[in-house]
Amino acid sequence: MKKFIDLRSDTVTQPSQEMRDAMYKAVVGDDIMGEDPTVRQLEIMSADILGKEDALFVTSGTMGNQIAVMALTNRGEEVIVGDTSHIYSLEVGALAALSQVQTRSIEVPHGVYDIKKMEELIQVRGIQNARTSLICIENTNNLNAGFIVPLDNINAVCDLAKKNCIPVHLDGARIFNAAVASKTSVKEIVKNVDTVMFALTKGLAAPFGAILAGNKDFIAKARWMKQRIGGGYRQAGFLAAPGIVALNTMLPQLEIDHKHAQILGNGLSKINRLKVETSRIHTNIITGSVEELPISIDNFLEKLLQKGIKAKKISRTSFRMITHYGVEEKDIHEVIRAVEDIIDRL
Ligand SMILES: Cc1ncc(COP(=O)(O)O)c(C=O)c1O
Repeated sequence: MKKFIDLRSDTVTQPSQEMRDAMYKAVVGDDIMGEDPTVRQLEIMSADILGKEDALFVTSGTMGNQIAVMALTNRGEEVIVGDTSHIYSLEVGALAALSQVQTRSIEVPHGVYDIKKMEELIQVRGIQNARTSLICIENTNNLNAGFIVPLDNINAVCDLAKKNCIPVHLDGARIFNAAVASKTSVKEIVKNVDTVMFALTKGLAAPFGAILAGNKDFIAKARWMKQRIGGGYRQAGFLAAPGIVALNTMLPQLEIDHKHAQILGNGLSKINRLKVETSRIHTNIITGSVEELPISIDNFLEKLLQKGIKAKKISRTSFRMITHYGVEEKDIHEVIRAVEDIIDRL
C-alpha cells in the first residue's frame, strides 16, 4: 500500500506496538456492572491527572461533550458556546437534538474569550427568558487553529460563571497539547472548570475513546446518561488499555509534534504568495491559504496528493495540516519541498 504523509488530522495515527500489546493482554470484565479493572484504572488515572474527583471512559470526544451538556442542563435552557467550537458546529446538532437546549455563540478571536461580551450573553430566568445554564469553552481552541487559551482567560470565564452560578464545561480534546505548549500542568489549566473532556485519539494516538471528568455526583449522572444513549460497555478494557499506554508514553510526542509544526509553518511561510501566518501556530495545527496564487484549493490539494501528501481543505481558499505521531522531521521537509515545487511550476 502506498504510504502517504497524512496531515489531515491527528486522528489518523496508528497505535504504537506497546498499545497493541496492551490491548492483547488487558484484563477485562463487564463494565456496566463496574467490573472492568482496566477501564476503571484508566478512569482513576485520568481523574488524578486532571485533579478531578472522578472520570468516565466514553466512546468519543463528541459523546463526552454531549453527555456533559445532558447532565448539566434542562430542556429549553441556554448554553454559551464559541462560534467555531466543535460542540456547537460539528456535533450534528446534538445540543438541540439530545439536550434540547438553545445556544448563544461568542467569537473567540485567537483563542481568547471576551469576558465583557460573555457577561452580556448570560440570560437570567424571567417570564420570557431561557436561563443560561452552562458555558462551554474549548482549549486548544478551534480545531482549524489549535490556539492556546491563556490560563487567566480561562479563569476569568470561570469567575464570571461562578458569580452567576453557571457551571463551565471545557472541551479539552487537545488539552495536553495546550499543557505541553504552555508548559503548564493540565491540572492547573482545568482547576476552575467544573467538567472537562479530553480525547485519547488525537495527539495521544490511542485508537479509541475519550475521558469526561468532574466531581463524583456529576460523573454518577454522566454514567447514567451514557447508558441511556447506548454507551454502556462490557469488556471495554481492551479499548481502555491503549489509553493507559497513551497517557503514560505519548506526552513527549506532543512536544515533537509542536516542533514539527513550527518547522513546517516557517518553511511554508517563506514560499512566495502562499499565505501562512506563523503567529497562528500555537500547537500542532498549521493553516495556509492559496488565495493569492493562480490555483484553486482543490487543485492544490490534488497536486499534493499526487506527491503522496494529504492535507485538509477548510475553506474555499485555505487548507489545514496537523502534525502527529508517525510524521517525522524528514516528512516535514518533504512537504515543504513538495509545496515549493507545486508553486514554482504555476
Ligand atoms: C475540539 C474538539 N472537540 C471535540 C472533538 C470530537 O472528538 P471525537 O472525534 O472523538 O468525537 C474534536 C474532534 O476533532 C475536536 O477537535
